Amino acid sequence: MGFVVAIDGPAASGKGSIASRLGGVLRFPVLDTGLLYRAAGVALERSGEDLDDEAAAGSVARSLRPGDLEGEALRTREAGEAASRVAVHPAVRSALLDFQRTFAAREPGAILDGRDIGTVVVPGAACKLFVTASPEVRARRRHTQLSAQGDPATYEAVLEDIRRRDARDGERAAAPMRRAADAVLLDTTDLDIDAAFDAALRIVEASRDRWERS
Ligand code: DC
Repeated sequence: MGFVVAIDGPAASGKGSIASRLGGVLRFPVLDTGLLYRAAGVALERSGEDLDDEAAAGSVARSLRPGDLEGEALRTREAGEAASRVAVHPAVRSALLDFQRTFAAREPGAILDGRDIGTVVVPGAACKLFVTASPEVRARRRHTQLSAQGDPATYEAVLEDIRRRDARDGERAAAPMRRAADAVLLDTTDLDIDAAFDAALRIVEASRDRWERS
């Protein structure tokens, strides 16, 4: 395995922006694993099946193709909620595991962001970050993004989404969102994206020095 950067944390913590900017600097491929769950949730809804139906959700997750990971439909509030609901099913999680692990095995390294990368997908990752921020600040960021996409949702509704998703993702039995014991905590509540990225880059560089010497 190359140098893997595992970035976990809740919605709108800044982990996605940090991951993609790190990818540019390190020249490593980046996998936003939330897209896999979003694609599974959206596909299941489109097929008219129930999001709580584990067998149907597992079969949709097993039949995802790379083209399913693209498109604006995956970026909506509804897609985030559907993703969080299908993500509770062990059948869905195990269907998506091989793809994520194969991606993580790319040389000379890879960056993955999600909820369970450092704990379940790549527990041996050389660098682990857990990126978080207060629910209010995350809701403010997500609300600004959604408004720019033309979504009329209020700040209060977005905050409610964030709280519900944090609870579901953190309390599920299968691979709950959790900071790995060896993950560095990065709280971006009071940081803008440039400051958050600089802090993340310092952590990654320190890990890389250690990894290259080991
Ligand atoms: O990061 P995101 O908001 O796009 O993720 C959408 C949902 O997918 C999230 O609420 C929970 C689920 N998810 C997961 O369970 N495990 C991951 N590694 C990534 C996402």
